Amino acid sequence: GWDGRGERPLKRCEHHIHIEGTLEPKMLFALAERHNIALDSSMYSTIPALEERYRNFANLDDFLAYFNKAMDVLLDEEDFAALAFAYMQRVHADGLVHAEVFFDPQAHTGRGVALSVVVNGLKKGLKQGELEFGISTELIMCFVKHLPVESALEAVAEMKPFVEKGDVIGLGADSSEKNNPPSKFAAVYSLARELHFPRLTMHSGEEGPADWVRQTVFDLGINRVDHGFHAADDEKLLEELARRETFLTLCPLSNVRLQVTPEGVHQSPIPLLLAKGVKFSLNSDDPAYFGGYILDNYLAVHAAFNFPKSTWRRIAQNGIDGSWCSDARKAELS
Ligand code: HPA
Ligand code: ZN
Repeated sequence: GWDGRGERPLKRCEHHIHIEGTLEPKMLFALAERHNIALDSSMYSTIPALEERYRNFANLDDFLAYFNKAMDVLLDEEDFAALAFAYMQRVHADGLVHAEVFFDPQAHTGRGVALSVVVNGLKKGLKQGELEFGISTELIMCFVKHLPVESALEAVAEMKPFVEKGDVIGLGADSSEKNNPPSKFAAVYSLARELHFPRLTMHSGEEGPADWVRQTVFDLGINRVDHGFHAADDEKLLEELARRETFLTLCPLSNVRLQVTPEGVHQSPIPLLLAKGVKFSLNSDDPAYFGGYILDNYLAVHAAFNFPKSTWRRIAQNGIDGSWCSDARKAELS
């Protein structure tokens, strides 16, 4: 079948990619060696064993234990630059034209890595990728839901100069969803608004219920939702999301690996979202952990639903329209 490559290839935009989630086992082991870090052998024995473990995550929190541990090898500016550039190089081959990249500042500053090392390093790698491959990029900080609200407030305040410089364009929220309803973080988003963060998004409804997507959109006033998967359980909500043009960043392969759709991508509500006119993009989330980069996600969706070309064009165009890039850049991509 048609795979979106061939002539007039689809222009893919990615809006849900954690840069720390692109840390491939090979780079993890190499950086550990370079920095003389002794990896915890109960988690990290060999690369093949680690890859096998990544195929058997029980849920989001099981994955997060690995995701948060692996970052220990990211220490200097060069590491962050290399990580970001490796991602750009990899997705260039996939026909990616625009990337909005998440990072978790608290996960690094909490280990004693300076915020400037993280942001400047990532920016350097992304810029190099922009120059070499013509992919446009933006950086979005996420605060982590597993740490106290106070810590998130500090992380947002500390980001202010980088937002003013335009190095970071927005705020998201990720990590453990269980026992962390969106309403808990209202003050964090209020602060981001006070500090003029241009863009706001939030992971919501990945493991949590439709009602939490409601809270995100209606109570917190956030009009992009990362995952938003369980919104599909509530038809009324879907109609509201369509009306408001709330944008969902779906992650099909992530959902399989984290047991949201344990039997496969065919369990995803993508056809329902299309039918209801809810806008979304397809994304890789944490490609080093979930078995595929952006094109693999598109191909998995195509294998599950066999959409006609017209549907694929619509999905790709919605991805361009929903991007947080300039109108001039959108026109270039359309
Ligand atoms: N959900 C929550 N936190 C995350 C994810 C995710 O899919 N990926 C990286 N951190
Ligand atoms: Zn995510």
